[in-house]
Amino acid sequence: MTVDPLIHQLFDPTFVSHNRLTMANPHVRQSLPGTLSLNGTWDFSLVDDPGSAPAGWQTADPATLGFGTIEVPGVWTRQGTGDLPHYTNVQMPWDEQPPNVPVRNPTGLYRTTFSADPAARTVLTICAAEAVAAVWCNGTYVGMGKDSRLESSFDLTFALVEGTNQLAILVPRWAESTWIEDQDHWFHGGIHRPVSVHTTPDIWLDDVVVDTNFNPKDGVGSYCVHAVIGTRAALIEGYSVRLSGFDSVDATAQVPADPASSDSVPRVAYSYPGREARLTGTVMDCAPWSAERPTLHEFELTLHSPSGAVLQTFRSRTGFRRVEVSQRQLRVNGAAVMINGVNRHDHHPDTGKTLSVDEMRAELVSMKRHNINAVRTAHYPNDPALLDLCDELGLYVIDEANVESHARHDTLLASGLFDIAVFDRVRRMVQRDRSRPSVIGWSLGNESGHGAVHDAAAAWIRRTDPTRFVQYEGGFNPTFGYHGSRELREQAPNASDRLISDVVCPMYAPVESIVSWATWAATSDSDDRPLILCEYSHAMGNSNGGLAEYWDAFLAHEALGGGFIWDWKDQGLRESGDDGRQWWGYGGHYGDKPNDSNFNINGLVDPDGLPHPGLQELAWLARPVAIAWADGIATVSNRRSHTSLDDVEVTWTVEVDGTPVANGALDVTGIVAGTSAAVDCAINLSPVGQGTATLTFTASLSHATNWAEKGHVIGHDQVGLSRGEYAVPVAADRAIEPELLSIVERAVPCLWRAPTDNDRYARGGAAGAGVSRLWEQWGLDRIVPGADGTWRGADGSEMTHHRVVTAVDAGVRVDETFDIPEAWHDLPRVGIRLMLDRKFDQLLWFGLGPNESYPDRKAAQRVGRWQSTVGEQYHPHPVPQEHGHHVECRWFSLSSRDGTSVRFGAVDNFGFSTRHNSDAGLAAASTLAELRSGDQIEVHIDAAMRGIGTAACGPDTADEYIVGPGRHRLTWTLGIIHR
Ligand code: GAL
Repeated sequence: MTVDPLIHQLFDPTFVSHNRLTMANPHVRQSLPGTLSLNGTWDFSLVDDPGSAPAGWQTADPATLGFGTIEVPGVWTRQGTGDLPHYTNVQMPWDEQPPNVPVRNPTGLYRTTFSADPAARTVLTICAAEAVAAVWCNGTYVGMGKDSRLESSFDLTFALVEGTNQLAILVPRWAESTWIEDQDHWFHGGIHRPVSVHTTPDIWLDDVVVDTNFNPKDGVGSYCVHAVIGTRAALIEGYSVRLSGFDSVDATAQVPADPASSDSVPRVAYSYPGREARLTGTVMDCAPWSAERPTLHEFELTLHSPSGAVLQTFRSRTGFRRVEVSQRQLRVNGAAVMINGVNRHDHHPDTGKTLSVDEMRAELVSMKRHNINAVRTAHYPNDPALLDLCDELGLYVIDEANVESHARHDTLLASGLFDIAVFDRVRRMVQRDRSRPSVIGWSLGNESGHGAVHDAAAAWIRRTDPTRFVQYEGGFNPTFGYHGSRELREQAPNASDRLISDVVCPMYAPVESIVSWATWAATSDSDDRPLILCEYSHAMGNSNGGLAEYWDAFLAHEALGGGFIWDWKDQGLRESGDDGRQWWGYGGHYGDKPNDSNFNINGLVDPDGLPHPGLQELAWLARPVAIAWADGIATVSNRRSHTSLDDVEVTWTVEVDGTPVANGALDVTGIVAGTSAAVDCAINLSPVGQGTATLTFTASLSHATNWAEKGHVIGHDQVGLSRGEYAVPVAADRAIEPELLSIVERAVPCLWRAPTDNDRYARGGAAGAGVSRLWEQWGLDRIVPGADGTWRGADGSEMTHHRVVTAVDAGVRVDETFDIPEAWHDLPRVGIRLMLDRKFDQLLWFGLGPNESYPDRKAAQRVGRWQSTVGEQYHPHPVPQEHGHHVECRWFSLSSRDGTSVRFGAVDNFGFSTRHNSDAGLAAASTLAELRSGDQIEVHIDAAMRGIGTAACGPDTADEYIVGPGRHRLTWTLGIIHR
């Protein structure tokens, strides 16, 4: 076996690559004509470990080797090879000590052919392979590269033959580097980004780096384009590069010739600039780049021979912008920016990790449509195509290096064993992405403690790219965030803290803590950094409770610059059962042991991109236009940083009891970024009368953009004009109708809900440690009636329930009290539950809508009269759980298609839900495939409902949204209308 020394290096932490070319801007190779894509079907075999590759596999006929085929790009763990995905969070997927990996190490042997001209310099690029790629060409070993999320390029020229060439790539699933890729994500195996071969001239553009700046004071953009020249021979005088574009630039620079050995040493040492030509200049009246208006400027750079012939052309586009972190604010082009960000993995429900450009675009378009303006590429540089799209669509990017040593957290990087690897990963990320205007900051990685190598990597970035900020979450753990005391350290940063992070970027810090920090920082002036949460509001299942409190804090404190939700997309993998029903696979569904179950289902959207309810809340909180109204004056706030409201239309509607009675429009043009204006908005209030009256402003786009159509709604605000009189229906002098009584008698007390992930998990992933453990012990899901209105739980505690049913004009009134024992100190809900025939599936209600709401996640909903169906109340959380509740409602009715309506009314407000799925059915199902909707409708009317919180990872429901013991009252009315 010829690869033995190589196998050794594959598992040596100090060895990160062999013969790998220096990382460059991907647009350099993408601009070359005739780049040959090697994507497609390759010959493939999976062996048990790298040493088991059959001798000569790099060149022998794949058929005689018994090879099958595989699609490239695409992980083999999603292509029927029998080797399956593995999901763990903090723990490693196997029981080893660093830097060891299991002896059984599924290893992919990839084979394909391509034709080449050995006379031309030919370069292979593998855009990403998990975990390592080692390359042979025509049986000759070419090189090897680690870092499963960055490309590796190799010069193949020396190994080429005329015509057909054999390419062989060996990819072990595990390497010692897996220890620093422990990212609470699926472990897969294989080449998951594109592979290509390109040729270059003999003297070529090795890299083109574009640095830009923008001066907001005078509107001048400036650029520095570095053209790095590659050549095998000495570079003689006469080569030049020419830059054109940037609207009107046309400039040429000579490429310095290599110094001759006869040149005097001092002259060379002090004046030779290297094989690099630089073009600097300015663009007057420059349209800058920002996420709000992502103006890109096209340019072309050509490399010319001494005779003037064009040897190579580079085309790209860039944006002019300035990023500053100062006085506890993040500023882009001089204006403070609020980050409404999400963490994003490269995840695809079918392929595992490979997304097409259109699929990436669809994700980003969905973000833009929900007022999201930033992406943290957690926890590794995402596909470079994503950055091109962020440039184009307008999203700020925190580019994160592929470093996470979570299983050993501090100790692994402190040991120094991985210093070379960490440094290399940070450096190569910057080299790949520094010409992208969307990238505003560099992150040194995630959850890896704070080693000296972080300081070294940060120092390298600061010297190489002073145009952006550096951040690192590990600089704040465990002092910050959920691991420790939860108290943010209110202490001036030392030099090392400051070096690794220009931004205070903890994860999951509670609101009280960030507010206290911001107050301390502003008053003491001891920390000049803004606080931008690198992760917060963990979106696992039915979640994002308390998001409004975060946004209130962000908007109230200058030092709070927003944050990045964890995370964008559920990492479920598409599966279907024998009955064809689709469900989402998560940890443990692939025989993967150990695993962390569904702890990777934390997205604002499901694996297919379907928004979960929390996304709507986020979009509303981050709305670019906020409108208040009083006494005929609308105060319109433009919360954008860079653009006026000239592209926004605002309409208003007055509704009384949900019926529109007046409407109009506001002229908001000319309201510049970051300002508020008073706009006349006189409203005739005479039709309001005794009803519940609201004034609703709706802001929408007046022009189509590349992410939304004209008319796309970007926000709304609602003002309550009158609350409406609600009298308690008085007793009527007649008997209670039996039909109504039978429904009331079916309504039983209910103190339980199908636990959400936040109810089940606690403290960053401990399954079964959440509050639902108590509900289970108390037996809230199975309380049994006793004498005198008592209901007993499994722990022997009892609550007392009293009900009085009174005939009223329109039906019956039901007055209930629930006396909850002290022992049940934290309940999911207090209310009643009843079953209705499935035919009553047409839902109408008045109250908060149109989407579901909970006491701590209701900001995006507004008062109105809403029409839906019971079926539409369903939300397919990949792990079924409580959903579909509506707080603060006045009444709801359920009607059958034959015209019979059952109407439930509140005397004040109540919460309700109507679903085809029962609580018990939701709680029992662990995937969508196990969920069966019943033949009845389960109706809940609630006096109280616990908030949703984010306890699975972060703060639990705030105290004010906890449902405690004592007396709860619920009054509701019931009537039946037959058409
Ligand atoms: C953070 C981590 C994320 C994810 C999240 C919980 O600690 O950075 O990768 O694990 O917690 O879902």
